[in-house]
Amino acid sequence: MKTILVTGGAGFIGSNFIFYMMKQTPKMRIVCYDKLTYAGNLSTLRPIMDAPDFRFVKGDVCDREAVFRVFEEERPDVVVNFAAESHVDRSIEDPGVFLRTNILGTQTLMDACRAYGGVRYHQVSTDEVYGDLPLDRPDLFFTEETPICTSSPYAASKAAADLLALSYFRTYGLPVTISRCSNNYGPYQFPEKLIPLMIANALADKPLPVYGTGENVRDWLYVEDHCRAIDLIIREGRVGEVYNIGGHNELTNIELVKMICRELGRPESLITHVADRKGHDRRYAIDPKKIHGELGWLPETKLADGLKRTIAWYLENRPWWEEIVSGEYQEYYRKMYGAR
Ligand code: NAD
Ligand code: TYD
Repeated sequence: MKTILVTGGAGFIGSNFIFYMMKQTPKMRIVCYDKLTYAGNLSTLRPIMDAPDFRFVKGDVCDREAVFRVFEEERPDVVVNFAAESHVDRSIEDPGVFLRTNILGTQTLMDACRAYGGVRYHQVSTDEVYGDLPLDRPDLFFTEETPICTSSPYAASKAAADLLALSYFRTYGLPVTISRCSNNYGPYQFPEKLIPLMIANALADKPLPVYGTGENVRDWLYVEDHCRAIDLIIREGRVGEVYNIGGHNELTNIELVKMICRELGRPESLITHVADRKGHDRRYAIDPKKIHGELGWLPETKLADGLKRTIAWYLENRPWWEEIVSGEYQEYYRKMYGAR
């Protein structure tokens, strides 16, 4: 039986990936390694905590001793690294922890892969490493050849990790792959990100803070489509390669927030334009032809359907996010939105 080490598996995409893999590949041992930062939530994993082929280990990806210990105990065949500081706005406030976790954490994990040998490493990255596209050129898309050109400290830290991963492939022959995905949405997303934040605020009849004009475009991908792509890449992807994931679901922020208002039966008058994000990327848009051509992957969930499903999940799982927004999140919200 193969063992897969999922780092950052108590966060949004990592937990969805664990659930996906348990369904898809039942004969697999899954070890989740996560520091449980503000973004990690053990209650997400509660239903599988006692499953026979699952183990949770609390630890920091930068803690060499702890990482090597889990490799010694589990001898993983595959590592999928989701562990990261992931929120652009936080990286603008305090870049240091992004550089530490996102770059040094990646190095530590790959060093452990080298030390134990024969470990397949997958780096979960983002389309934000390509910077942004102009709003008046809908014909342009990110391909794997688009130059790295980052805007935020978050994106810069992810780009650095990508380059490090490619260097470990070239220099040491470590079998790595990298996926660069567009904006995800779906169950278990921390309510600091656009979609769950707007759902939570709308349900509480609070203002919906749209940055700047709201004309910025994002290419939304339902989280399960992302998980399916990563599963394909670790099984059939070519090592040393980058795969873009996403496509065909572009929308401006303002249109998206209006859709959420309509779905929840809340008035658009809740929308409040607030000060723009510093260095705000204008448009992200993925060209998925490489992953489609090589691995047959395309997004399956249309934004309108995925958004309905996501809203239904947040309505049915209020305790999960209400606990979050009633805690230290209040302080975060005051700091980020209070005087905006
Ligand atoms: P998240 O913030 O929801 O989860 C991150 C997880 O990593 C949390 O469980 C947290 O506890 C853990 N973590 C943080 N620092 C750690 C450390 N030092 N050691 C161990 N664990 C640590 O993030 P997410 O949205 O699930 O994103 C997962 C990955 O996917 C990230 O690498 C992110 O860059 C990438 N990504 C995200 C999106 C998106 O739209 N959310 C899109 C493309 C790529
Ligand atoms: P976000 O979910 O933070 O993802 P990313 O910055 O990685 O794209 O934001 C998505 C878009 O929504 C982005 O253009 C910023 C915008 N946004 C708002 O307008 N208001 C908000 O409160 C948040 C969190 C984001």
